[in-house]
Parts: sequence; C-alpha cells; structure tokens
Amino acid sequence: MTTRRKLVAGNWKMNGLKASLSEVRAMVDGAKALSGVDLSICPPATLISAVASALEGSAIGLGGQDCHAERSGAFTGDISPEMLADTGAGFVIVGHSERRAGHGETDAVVAAKASAAYRAGLTPIICVGESLEQRDRGETLAVIAGQLAGSIPDAAATTPTVIAYEPIWAIGTGRTPTTAQVAEVHAAMVATLQQRFGAAAEGIRLLYGGSVKPENARELMHVPGVDGALVGGASLKAGDFLKIAAACA
Ligand code: PGA
Repeated sequence: MTTRRKLVAGNWKMNGLKASLSEVRAMVDGAKALSGVDLSICPPATLISAVASALEGSAIGLGGQDCHAERSGAFTGDISPEMLADTGAGFVIVGHSERRAGHGETDAVVAAKASAAYRAGLTPIICVGESLEQRDRGETLAVIAGQLAGSIPDAAATTPTVIAYEPIWAIGTGRTPTTAQVAEVHAAMVATLQQRFGAAAEGIRLLYGGSVKPENARELMHVPGVDGALVGGASLKAGDFLKIAAACA
C-alpha cells in the first residue's frame, strides 16, 4: 500500500461565530510548527470569507461543508461550488451522512455535487459510511462499495478527489471502530477503487472520520490505508485540532 501525505480536515458543521476566528488564528500559528501533513478547515458558510482572510498566507486549506450541483440560479439558501471557490476555498465536503440522512441526499445527488465541485476547480471530500444496523447485519463492505459506485464520478480518475469513511455510529458519539475494522474497510475501498480506476486510484486520499480525538488520533492515523482524518467536534478547538495533525506528521 502506498503512503500518501496525510490530510486532516476540520468539519465545523453548524458551529462557530465570529469569536471562533481566534481559534483559526491559533491554528495558523500552531500549524507553522507542523510539517508533512496537510490541514484544511470547513467552517459554516457564514464564516467562510472571514476564515479565508484569517488563513491568508498560511498553508491551511479552506473548504465548504456542502454545495449545490448548479452554478447559480433560483435555489434559495443554497451555495454553489463556484461561490465557494470565489471565497478562496479549495475543498468541499459532499455526501456527509448528516446531509444524506437529514436532507435526503442519494448517491446520485452526491455524485452530481462532486462533479459540480470538479467543474468549479474544488476537490470534493466525498463521505461514505454504514449505519450501526447495517454493520450488525454484516453489510458494511457491501454498503460502502455501493456508495463508492454511486457517489464517485468517473472523473475521479483524473481529478483530485478525497474520500472519507465515516461510520455513522461513530460520528459525534465518542465511539470509534477498532483499528481492525477501519483497516478492513480501507483495504476494501482501496481494492474497489483500484478495480475501477486502476493506477489512478493511487491519487485518491482515504480519510477516516468519526470521533477522532487527540487521544485516539495516533492509533487511527497509523492504520494501513488511512491517509488522514475528517474531524468534527475536535476541530473546533485549535489545541485539539493541532494535536490530531501532529499525530499524523
Ligand atoms: P465527529 O464528526 O468528529 O464530531 O465525530 C466527524 C464528522 O462528522 O465529520
């Protein structure tokens, strides 16, 4: 298995006010001491321009948490990938389980959003993951294979793409899979992507997400096939986020 440079992306979800910019500044300061790992923050849309300013000149990347598939138009409340790119963002999360479950997003919708991200020059972070019921029924690998087949556009072979494996039961719960469970899913994802994209699969980074904390980051980030983390709760505080990044470096 190839070793790729790790990426730690912070998903702030619906958290953060202007006061949170002090955390971003602390991340910028702390990141100067880190090497060998890429960092990115995905703040809520209300903060994205301010975070872009705070990140200026730093190596930390910026991302959105979701996007619409269209470039512009009568879609009240939505944000297009072109708008995200216009703020300076380089990434966008698509297909997070909270979007799939809370907003009825199907694999086809997620694939359309990922394609729209490519169109705007953004790297999509495409999320997949099984529910606890699916895991208990022994369906995990089949569910992940189905989500990969349905959510990842063919253009992933030639365009920068990140995939995040996030077991739904590990998100925000403090529960994490065993390293053996993470290794099993990541190995299956690598095999599926190699089968579909051949050597081009080497370029796709595979993150793990779900209750990544400073305490468990070193163990999770050194599971074979894990190229970084998508971090929710622990990305809100600079200290925790930087400790997770240091565990990758
Ligand atoms: P969590 O969220 O780290 O708070 O579990 C991860 C995610 O949903 O991306």
